[in-house]
Amino acid sequence: MSSRHAPWVGWFRVMLVLARRMQPHLAMSRSRTSEGRRRLGPGTILQGRYCLERLLAQGGLGAVFVAADLVSYQTVAVKVPLTRGVAPEQIAQRYRYEALTMAAVRHPNIVQVLDAGQDGDLPFQVMQYVPGKTVKALIHDSCERRRTLGLSVVSAILRQVAAGLDAMHEGGVVHGDVKPSNMIIDSELHVAICDFGLVRSVGAGGGTVPPPEVGVLGGTPLYVAPELLLGAELPPKQRYLRDSYSLGASLYEMLTGQPPFVGRTLDEIVRGPLLVPPPRGVDRRPDLPAAIDAVVVRALAKAPAQRYRSCEQLSLAVDQLEQLSRRRRAAHRSEERRRSLDRGGTMPYGIAERASELC
Ligand SMILES: Nc1ncnc2c1ncn2[C@@H]1O[C@H](COP(=O)(O)OP(=O)(O)OP(=O)(O)O)[C@@H](O)[C@H]1O
Ligand SMILES: [Mg+2]
Repeated sequence: MSSRHAPWVGWFRVMLVLARRMQPHLAMSRSRTSEGRRRLGPGTILQGRYCLERLLAQGGLGAVFVAADLVSYQTVAVKVPLTRGVAPEQIAQRYRYEALTMAAVRHPNIVQVLDAGQDGDLPFQVMQYVPGKTVKALIHDSCERRRTLGLSVVSAILRQVAAGLDAMHEGGVVHGDVKPSNMIIDSELHVAICDFGLVRSVGAGGGTVPPPEVGVLGGTPLYVAPELLLGAELPPKQRYLRDSYSLGASLYEMLTGQPPFVGRTLDEIVRGPLLVPPPRGVDRRPDLPAAIDAVVVRALAKAPAQRYRSCEQLSLAVDQLEQLSRRRRAAHRSEERRRSLDRGGTMPYGIAERASELC
């Protein structure tokens, strides 16, 4: 039975929700941290529109909240900076650049940036909210259970991230910070790429407009491509290949539980991409098909021209290996069954049923 109310009932509800949400905000807007930074939390309303509901996660540079958009009634994600020593105007400018750059890219595997603004001295960015956990957390959880991600799960994640990244590249945009903690996965295995803090437009005309830089690193050292560490200036077509290198490093982590080059100091970490050949995946995980090593070696090639030409090509190579290993496993299982029958064992349930149907 559907219940219909007079229109004023709907408005009354909206006002009630607003009043409830405003109440803690009014108390909170006066409160600041000892360093003079604004204290944010449930009930804070930014620019009279985005009402923070709960803290979702804290990255290296920003905190991300789940929020209600009081204009569109959508649930959104709002990112605010944690960086100290950078002028709010500079961060606001960076957030606007990210929103503008990402507006050109719409893809189901890319988190959509909806808005960027400033509330007093607080810059913020509004994104589509993607429920789920990061692929980093997924890897961590399976390591905790002393397991690794199955090749079919890894190839499903890779396929989606590759599709999203290729869409960015076709739009002339480099992500610049591809890593498992910037991939969000939901319970149906749908994956979306987030965190556009290092995006850069390198397509036609875009390369001449440098984005304002915030932060000190041009990427996360564990995943960063060697050409970036060397500060090499690449021809336009090869600029996208830094993302495919980082995708290769993320692939290696999904397969083995840790990035390809690890170390205790920054010097040790950056030696890897520059000087050390990619480690063999099968050494860390013997159940992997041996051919995976050739895929990893090509994905992590020091020279950009030797890598896969697109992220999709890398994901296709892993798909093929996954299908091959699935067929091998199926053949192995039916061989086991045949041997068991030869030894006078019982037929597995499904086969016995089908055999009696056929007779
Ligand atoms: N749109 C979103 N929907 C849901 N969760 C999100 C969204 N954007 C970010 N997150 C979560 O917030 C975390 C931090 O966000 P983000 O990576 O953008 O911040 P950061 O400070 O730039 O991170 P980093 O540590 O990579 O520098 C992500 O790892 C993810 O868990
Ligand atoms: Mg991040």
